[in-house]
Amino acid sequence: MTTPSPTAPRIAIADAGRHVGESVCIAGWLYNLRRSGKICFPQVRDGTGIMQCVAVKSALPEELFEALKDLTQESSLTVQGKIRAEPRAHGGFELDVENAQIVQRVPESDPYPITPKDHGIDFLMDHRHLWLRSRRQHAALRVRHEVIKGIRDYFDSHGFVLVDTPIFTPAACEGTSTLFEVDYFEDEKVYLTQSGQLYNEATCMAFGKTYCFGPTFRAEKSKTRRHLTEFWMVEPEMAYANLEDVKRVGEELVLFVIARVLENRREELKVLERDAGKLEAVQGPFHRMSYDEAVENLRVKGSEIQWGGDFGNTDETLLTEGMDRPVIVDRYPAAVKAFYFQPAPDRPDVALGVDFIAPEGYGEIIGGGERIHDLDLLLKRLDEHNLPREAFNWYLDLRKFGSVPHGGFGMGVERFVAWMCGLEHIRETIAFPRMLYRTRP
Ligand code: 4AD
Ligand code: MG
Repeated sequence: MTTPSPTAPRIAIADAGRHVGESVCIAGWLYNLRRSGKICFPQVRDGTGIMQCVAVKSALPEELFEALKDLTQESSLTVQGKIRAEPRAHGGFELDVENAQIVQRVPESDPYPITPKDHGIDFLMDHRHLWLRSRRQHAALRVRHEVIKGIRDYFDSHGFVLVDTPIFTPAACEGTSTLFEVDYFEDEKVYLTQSGQLYNEATCMAFGKTYCFGPTFRAEKSKTRRHLTEFWMVEPEMAYANLEDVKRVGEELVLFVIARVLENRREELKVLERDAGKLEAVQGPFHRMSYDEAVENLRVKGSEIQWGGDFGNTDETLLTEGMDRPVIVDRYPAAVKAFYFQPAPDRPDVALGVDFIAPEGYGEIIGGGERIHDLDLLLKRLDEHNLPREAFNWYLDLRKFGSVPHGGFGMGVERFVAWMCGLEHIRETIAFPRMLYRTRP
């Protein structure tokens, strides 16, 4: 382009309200374009918002007007002009174009692949790197950011110390059937972590209350709308804590993060057509029931579950039917749970584990409980689960040197975000999802 580049101060579209009447510059991508003869309306998005620009032929150099009028979707450009309040416009403002510079024009011969027409999900997933620019995807990932920030703020303001745990691990935490094995050096095998919990148990004995927050991996061959092979989990762990403490902290966390989303992400919820009333209705205390009661409840509702079985997706949905808030289910059969759960003192066949099941069919968002703190019992469980003691030597030390009752939980970020956004499928809650049949882009 031969037009001079815009010189006015650069602003984010989201801040337009503070610049009414001023000449400013915005920098973004062409989202949409309407034209009618001597006037055209390029809509520009910059990641913070969308601005309707008004380009009038008689007010601009002919070459510039023609370039704008024929601009192609997702071409990059900067636009200079005056901001005007316009209640009918998207975002409430319009920009009267004074100048513009096209940074890169997308050629007609190879147009932007995502158009307003309906694309199939595989096509969209193959173009995930571009699909992220769409309004709904953009909104969902903004909610995700809010959720992550809310989680961090909750723990940081409640005395928890963030201690990052390793991704390469020598031992299984959540069962050997879902491990991703990695070739390490010199014939050594390691696994991608399933959970930072075992390390949290060490760090909480050093700091009292800790949390880790990072990616976790499960080689789960389940192709459901709730499962990723790589997902982000926040995991708090507390020394001198019991099952009740775990339930209380989990409930507080959920309420805290929902309040943040409602406070700061109303616009995004609107874009997602999420009924915010459903989130407003989530209040404490949550429903609480034992596994025994849950099984009874499910059987009354027609489920075929037997005592001793794990809840499937349909059971979880059935369990929260008609509920406006999560249900906290505790005291599971020890046989369906991981090796590290403390047994109930009155019933050794029952583990002091707890799951939070979200309403509206979003399923388990939190899993956790009380850990075994007795060395001999832990040794017995390792053997029962065929886990090699050598890999757990350091973990066993925690039961030799000042062992105390302790507990914690893990909350899956993507499950939580799906619930907040009201999304059908977990794949839209993370920028580049990893699933059974999806490792690209
Ligand atoms: O119930 P899980 O397997 O618990 C643990 O990993 C414990 N070690 C955590 C702890 O106590 N520190 O997983 C915890 C949560 C689930 O409730 C769910 O929200 C999420 O992690 N999650 C998944 N999210 C997406 N895809 C998967 N495949 C998931 N598996 C678990
Ligand atoms: Mg679980």
